[in-house]
Amino acid sequence: MSNIPQHVSIIMDGNGRWAKARGKERIFGHFEGAESVRACLEAAVEDGVKYLSLYAFSEENWGRPEAEVNGLMELLIKYLRQELANMMSNRIRFVVLGHRERLSEKVNGLIDEVMATTASNDGTTLVVFLSYSGKWDILQAMKKAARELSPEQFQALEPHDLDRFLVTAGIPDPDLLIRTSGELRISNYLLWQSAYTEFYFTDTLWPDFRKPQFREALAEYARRDRRYGKVK
Ligand code: IPE
Ligand code: IPE
Ligand code: MG
Repeated sequence: MSNIPQHVSIIMDGNGRWAKARGKERIFGHFEGAESVRACLEAAVEDGVKYLSLYAFSEENWGRPEAEVNGLMELLIKYLRQELANMMSNRIRFVVLGHRERLSEKVNGLIDEVMATTASNDGTTLVVFLSYSGKWDILQAMKKAARELSPEQFQALEPHDLDRFLVTAGIPDPDLLIRTSGELRISNYLLWQSAYTEFYFTDTLWPDFRKPQFREALAEYARRDRRYGKVK
């Protein structure tokens, strides 16, 4: 396939509705969604996508019932323990970005371990956004810049200068942003970084979004004409 996006990002939505449609608890949808993560990661590796990033848990998601939040954290722990060997054999680098202070010590410990173990892998980078929100990211970037720069340097900041203060520093902006489950919104995700991203919305619920659906999104991306405000 030609014109493969360098960075594909996904708002993985619709797990709860997928479970409800089957008369099951929401958490079943999240567990089935983990299979979609495996499938899309495999497709990304096979197709040469350099960065696959996933919106797994937003700052706003802390407001869900405690049992669901705990279930999602347990699922993350299970996923990381199961997938580490696969990440190593496929040279996948694992990175978590977000408001890490809000995560438990247990979750943070395992994340640090998997990030350190996979740090020098040179294949696809899997970025998982946890306890992340776009407004939080922009604000923490501004605070960091204010701490590190002189008042003169701060006043001289250009838009692209803020990139290195965002948690995504060093990671290219997403070329393609996929949102499943039919919702047509960004839900406080990569606000700054998606300024010129191509959006792809699909009614498919996340647990049903597997390799063929991922590749259909890549095919749609390949047909887009990115002009960046210029005339071609
Ligand atoms: C997405 O599925 C997963 C997370 C936000 C953690 P949802 O849990 O939002 O599923 P719906 O949108 O309620 O169907
Ligand atoms: C967005 O999904 C967040 C993640 C997928 C992690 P939500 O289900 O939380 O978003 P809203 O509430 O429909 O906007
Ligand atoms: Mg949702």
